[in-house]
Amino acid sequence: MAEQRLGLQISRYDPETHDRPEARNYEVAVGESMTVLDALVSIQQEQDSSLAIRYSCRGGFCGACGVQVNGVPVLACRTRVSSLDCNGSPVEIAPLQNHPVIRDLVADFDPTFLTLGAGEPWIQPDAESPGSGMDSDMTQEEVDRLGRSQACISCGLCDAAVTGANASAGFIGPAALVREFRLAADVRDGSDRDRLEKINDSGGIWDCDPDESWDDACPVGIDPANKIELLREASIANKIAGRKRVESEAAV
Ligand code: SF4
Ligand code: FES
Repeated sequence: MAEQRLGLQISRYDPETHDRPEARNYEVAVGESMTVLDALVSIQQEQDSSLAIRYSCRGGFCGACGVQVNGVPVLACRTRVSSLDCNGSPVEIAPLQNHPVIRDLVADFDPTFLTLGAGEPWIQPDAESPGSGMDSDMTQEEVDRLGRSQACISCGLCDAAVTGANASAGFIGPAALVREFRLAADVRDGSDRDRLEKINDSGGIWDCDPDESWDDACPVGIDPANKIELLREASIANKIAGRKRVESEAAV
């Protein structure tokens, strides 16, 4: 049987030597069950060692290998080449949108992308928190409230799926808000009111129009748009959103 070949058009960019990205074409032999990451590693190892890619686990756990494939943010290690419908055209591969680019396909995951800048992305118990400073049992209902938010692998795909007005309004992005949801909804955290106050500020939960495409992009089924809706409901229930609105109206 004739060997099957796949064309890839890869964005190449070194900010130190180039003004803008340029597309370069490659071709690989398609192996059985080959993923986009397999194809990129094969190019790097056999054709062009200067190609910068990032990966670690190769199993969908570490969140390191996100790229745009034909404009869609995906994990390269979880995307089978056979699933791509290109009509004979090369597969276009680019770094994740909405993140600065370090080089080629490596987006800059500055750790603050998950922390609202100066946020504290860990549980902060206070004297009233159950089991503060100690291990504590949570009821099943309290665990269920966290939903899939605990499964976030910090891959940034939901942020890369932000487009249009959402991308230009100074919006912090869904990934950081999923992190805040996961902490604010945890009964062991004593800073939930502070967290809600912070995400009611400019660039937070009200400066976006939650979009299903963010949910589609998430490889672990967290539904970031839904988590933002839940944060809005919690803010309104705690009368935080109302106060912020009054402040902003007074400033007009
Ligand atoms: S919410 Fe999903 S898409 Fe967004 S960073 Fe976490 S795992 Fe990735
Ligand atoms: S290499 Fe770890 S998620 Fe793809």
